[in-house]
Amino acid sequence: MKDALIIFDTTLRDGEQSPGASMTREEKLRIARQLERMRVDVIEAGFAAASNGDFEAVRSIAEAIKESTVCSLARANENDIRRSGEAIRPAARGRIHTFIATSPIHMEKKLRMTPDQVVEQAVKAIGWAREYTDDVEFSAEDAGRSELDFLVRIFDAVIQAGARTINVPDTVGYNVPEQYAATIRSLIERVPNSDKVVWSVHCHNDLGLAVANSLAAVCAGARQVECTINGLGERAGNAALEEIVMAVRTRADVFPVETRIDTTQIVPASKLVSQITGYPVQPNKAIVGANAFAHESGIHQDGVLKHRETYEIMRAEDVGWGANKLVLGKHSGRNAFRARLQALGIEIEGEETLNHAFARFKELADKKHEIFDEDLHALIRDEIVTPETEHFRLVSSRFHSETGETPRAELTLVIDGQERQACAEGSGPVDAAFKAIEAIAASGSELLLYSVNAITTGTDAQGEVTVRLAKEGRVMDGQGADTDIIVASAKAYLNALNKLQTSARRLNPQI
Ligand code: KIV
Ligand code: ZN
Repeated sequence: MKDALIIFDTTLRDGEQSPGASMTREEKLRIARQLERMRVDVIEAGFAAASNGDFEAVRSIAEAIKESTVCSLARANENDIRRSGEAIRPAARGRIHTFIATSPIHMEKKLRMTPDQVVEQAVKAIGWAREYTDDVEFSAEDAGRSELDFLVRIFDAVIQAGARTINVPDTVGYNVPEQYAATIRSLIERVPNSDKVVWSVHCHNDLGLAVANSLAAVCAGARQVECTINGLGERAGNAALEEIVMAVRTRADVFPVETRIDTTQIVPASKLVSQITGYPVQPNKAIVGANAFAHESGIHQDGVLKHRETYEIMRAEDVGWGANKLVLGKHSGRNAFRARLQALGIEIEGEETLNHAFARFKELADKKHEIFDEDLHALIRDEIVTPETEHFRLVSSRFHSETGETPRAELTLVIDGQERQACAEGSGPVDAAFKAIEAIAASGSELLLYSVNAITTGTDAQGEVTVRLAKEGRVMDGQGADTDIIVASAKAYLNALNKLQTSARRLNPQI
């Protein structure tokens, strides 16, 4: 019998700390449902004290999710912990994850606290958290650059105070596998009652070693890995869930553990997170990249045709490739549409919204005969807007682009209920469209990123555009999808503007 490896997904918390990747409550719920379907053990749903919106998102996930533990992050202070405790209250299984920095540089320069004060605060934090749940996790932020003796001291204290999971984050991605494994091994040997808690690792990818470090730690005794879908996360990201899970499964001869993950849900989860956040997956990304199972060279193709295992160590279907089969077409009815949305975990509130979404689906099916799950996710993302979050809406557009002529865009928008028109020229039709929008919206925001991806294959695929805008220190990504990529671009720009308008300022837990 192998030990269980607990998969703790933090896409909705650390993943959301990626620039521009902030998600709405409804988007987080869709990802949480997919994580539950994938049988993730713990879902870190957010940082409840960041804002009222974050609190509500954690609470909604705690209400909806039944099979996974739902966790909220909290700094080691009473307010954060009480907000987390309230947010996870409805959960079938709820966890509070509290943390404080332990490296000399963080204690001195960031916290301006002495080591004694840090230990005292950590112990108090566990006490407050235990008022809400027995399932309390403690993290020593920047453990990867902390002194081993101090880690032994603080972990001993928090275990005595009631922490059940001890997390050893390599917050800045500084460690290398052998050294990190040695740290985990020493901690397990030296911390009193180490066998009464679960040892957890949380690695950032600044040196491209997050997965290698996490796996080395598993061999040294860690039994929880904190990771994110597609490796999304602060800076260079976190350890990628799909790589951890598939390494443990494919190299069962090396790892003394097994996970509960339904691996066929990995690719759908990857696509969903990419679509919602607008972070594309690089084609050569392990497991979930479009080329991960594509054999280009003739020798490889020949080998795979003769005997698959000559060049493949995993089966594409085992990680969910091919699961995005054709789902609906132009003859599909309203019930089939609703049933497919339900199967995808998408709940549409109200008949009117459903009717509207169905009308949009029919329009799309007229242009594009085969509708895949990815198309439905994009359609619903564009559809689920509420009057409070939709200040700007595209009504109609006309673009002119011809050899030798300056490209031009004419747009009609609704801004806070009022119809407005604008016309602008640009270096290309997308540039013209953005200038036309700014002529009306006058947002003064700065365009940081523009990227286009095809949602599915084929020239009739919808183009999905991500636009990243910055304004007054806030950064927001917007997405838009359409079979016409200029229209998709305009929708993405408006989506980012809408998010800038509605999102409240939020606290970052680690600042
Ligand atoms: O990277 C980190 O240290 C964290 C902690 C809050 C666990 O994200
Ligand atoms: Zn982190």
